Amino acid sequence: MKDGQPSAIYLKDYQVPAFLIDKTELTFDLDESVTIVTSRLHMRRNPKSKFRTAPLVLDGGEDVKLIALAMDDYQLPPEEYRLRNHQIIITATADEFVLTCETLIEPQNNTRLEGLYRSSSMFCTQCEAEGFRHITYYLDRPDVMSVFTTTIIADGDKYPVLLSNGNEVSRSLNEEGKTVAVWHDPFPKPAYLFALVAGNLEVIEDQFTTLSNRAVTLKIFTESHNIDKVDYSMDALKRSMKWDEEKYGREYDLDIFMIVAVDDFNMGAMENKGLNVFNSSCLLASPKTTTDDGYQRVEAVVAHEYFHNWSGNRVTCRDWFQLSLKEGFTVFRDQQFSADMNSPVVKRVEDVSFLKTAQFAEDAGPMSHPVRPSSFIEISNFYTLTIYEKGSEIVRMIHTLLGEDSFRKGSDLYFERHDGQAVTCDDFVQAMQDASGIDLSQFKRWYSQAGTPRVEAVGSYDEVTKTYQLTLTQATPPTANQPTKLPLLMPIRVGLLDENGKALTSELNGKNDTSHVLTLNLSEQVFEFKQVDTAPIPSLLRGFSAPVKLSYDYTVEQLSILMSSDEDGFNRWNAAQELAVRELNTLISQARRGEVLSIESQLLLGFKALLDDQSLDKSMVSLILSLPSQAYLSEISEEVDPQAIKQARTYLKQLIARALEQEFANCYEANNVDVDYSPDAQQISQRQLKNAALSYWSETNSVAAERAVLSQFQSADNMTDQFSALSIAVNTTHPEFQSMLDSFYSQWSHEALVVNKWLMLIAAQEADNGLEQVKQLMQHDAFDLKNPNKVRAVLGGLGSSVSTFHNETGAGYAFLADQIIVLNKRNPQLASRLCTPLTRWRKMKPNLSVLMQKQLERILSEELSKDVFEVVSKSLA
Ligand code: ARG
Ligand code: ZN
Repeated sequence: MKDGQPSAIYLKDYQVPAFLIDKTELTFDLDESVTIVTSRLHMRRNPKSKFRTAPLVLDGGEDVKLIALAMDDYQLPPEEYRLRNHQIIITATADEFVLTCETLIEPQNNTRLEGLYRSSSMFCTQCEAEGFRHITYYLDRPDVMSVFTTTIIADGDKYPVLLSNGNEVSRSLNEEGKTVAVWHDPFPKPAYLFALVAGNLEVIEDQFTTLSNRAVTLKIFTESHNIDKVDYSMDALKRSMKWDEEKYGREYDLDIFMIVAVDDFNMGAMENKGLNVFNSSCLLASPKTTTDDGYQRVEAVVAHEYFHNWSGNRVTCRDWFQLSLKEGFTVFRDQQFSADMNSPVVKRVEDVSFLKTAQFAEDAGPMSHPVRPSSFIEISNFYTLTIYEKGSEIVRMIHTLLGEDSFRKGSDLYFERHDGQAVTCDDFVQAMQDASGIDLSQFKRWYSQAGTPRVEAVGSYDEVTKTYQLTLTQATPPTANQPTKLPLLMPIRVGLLDENGKALTSELNGKNDTSHVLTLNLSEQVFEFKQVDTAPIPSLLRGFSAPVKLSYDYTVEQLSILMSSDEDGFNRWNAAQELAVRELNTLISQARRGEVLSIESQLLLGFKALLDDQSLDKSMVSLILSLPSQAYLSEISEEVDPQAIKQARTYLKQLIARALEQEFANCYEANNVDVDYSPDAQQISQRQLKNAALSYWSETNSVAAERAVLSQFQSADNMTDQFSALSIAVNTTHPEFQSMLDSFYSQWSHEALVVNKWLMLIAAQEADNGLEQVKQLMQHDAFDLKNPNKVRAVLGGLGSSVSTFHNETGAGYAFLADQIIVLNKRNPQLASRLCTPLTRWRKMKPNLSVLMQKQLERILSEELSKDVFEVVSKSLA
């Protein structure tokens, strides 16, 4: 960083806004060269502010040119205001006035994709968190809520579709022949929920009748070549609307709900009031171009953004430190929805596996922060796994502690009490406490303490009294700026099994059951289970009832019993992972010592039983069969040796594949059935198991397996099967893999989202000339530095390749750093996210660690955006 370093802002400095904006009237004169924005802000001093004479300070951006400024129609001459650090400061104002402001912006040159920008042929916006200030000067903070009226003026031939929030109130032609569309949103909202779209778009339309019998028009817009891929989204939207009514009593509130797909988007999607804007990767789906995972992602994101209408829009955040108030709660809601639409236990395993891999790593790294951070330099850096996923786990714990009914009473109270307000995480917890009568004061520490708590469990059984004592201790490791931690309150769901895996009933706190929820809130605590017939095997943290690292000294036999018989499906998976982790750790140590790898795998018997049992849920079987990922094994390593981890995983997978070759071949054949594609849970699980079996079977490099891969690739009528076959071919260096890659590209070169999968697969492959290939990809016609999906495909892919990225020459790290430096200027948000793999440098084995550190230092010596500066400087601190 060259001159003046950006500084942090703090939660403790929060003040209510000195001014309010009751009404916001915006006019956009859209044009390919310059766009003129005129705002009329009906402002007054905030009676709740203690600063009665505070100056008016409006936020802007370096890309916003001020043309004119007037107060109550009096043009302010330059000496009556100041422009400093992209802010307008007006010292003397009346108590109530209308501020008129004219600004010039160039959306076509906006590469940050914040504010108003162009994506292919359309204009669109992204205003969360602080994008609105790149459109015009404003009080750009979520606790300033205003009623918006938006006028869009544009060439009606090029931009027949002109959209903003709320309802369209008029549409006409002006004297120049341009179209003038006026939209009005009756619900007061912060500027981050503002949206505008203009383009030549196609639409599909549907209807939803709400609980109270109001008809809502639903519209989904895309460019014409994608309009055949939004039927599934429409279906998911209607199911989400119904589910939110049934599960939470939440009804939609406007007459129209619109979604628009755009190709260039920094994140997944945005919940703008009445006008959601989606990254096309989270909205478009068709059997031939979209995998099952893709379908489930579309379903989840459509639901997530829709659910924000209540958890986010009707009740919003007071300030950005409270981001998890809306995100954690809404992720919890979308997880519940997906669980209800598909299989709850499968969904839980997927979510927890992701949390334990990625969020735990974040919480142990230099960007570790509490779910409610106490400071930040750039808020865009805090759209994190901690805010979203750990935030959701906190809400889930409240749900577990209160139970379904009290939780619903709590959410009803929260929505009723705070409708139309901008509130805090404390307000959410308070509503839950008031509705349930359960004291959550200690529980609130979850919001302010960073780091993943460790819980240790030790059990002892007394034959004579038939009592089982379980001692739990908890501790949270120190994290940046938080050296000491207090004990947390957490629900630990526990069951007991006998040595044959049968569930044991026990008595705890006067309740007889096979499953109990313990409330752990001290650093050490003893729980006594009575009437336990025999020495039990404890099944701990069922359903992953708290986001912690739990340890218990199981024997291999005990883990095998849990894996095959625990009544808690989640813990069956977890026991299998634990078994695999142990074996992989042994192999990793051997690899690090340069020894020949060898192990007698205890997994074989359990896996064989799984494959032989036709009655089990096929998704669960494939999840249990999949070995812990490279990323998860890195997360749990003291010191990460990527090469050793890769070697160990490959060795164990091949060993299992050879030992169970016939079982995998049979499982593949049995599940390779011809059906008309549908993304339903039953079909998805069958494809998942079939492809898991094919992946193992292919590790034997048998001719039969190779033939199966090629034939599936060529004859598949859906992307799940075609892309699975292609990935397997690439990962096992199938003799035909190169020609398969080529034919895949020529088949799909016209489908951007499919091409992105192809880019990622090539960038992620383990090859000696991997970096060369990545460089070529970035020169390929299919690549575009402006498009975040493509950048993420190639550079994200690169980051997951051991031989290319973690190359011992350091060339992979240097290449990523080069790209970060280029993108830092064009798109800071994207650049900052690409830093993540480098921020893990302290945990890497020494030679790699030094190489990564050098690249971070090189980046830091550049003139940096706030986004990249924050991540890189914190990583090196
Ligand atoms: N609120 C959006 C979502 O649900 C994400 C916001 C995008 N933010 C951004 N800085 N681009 O999940
Ligand atoms: Zn969200």
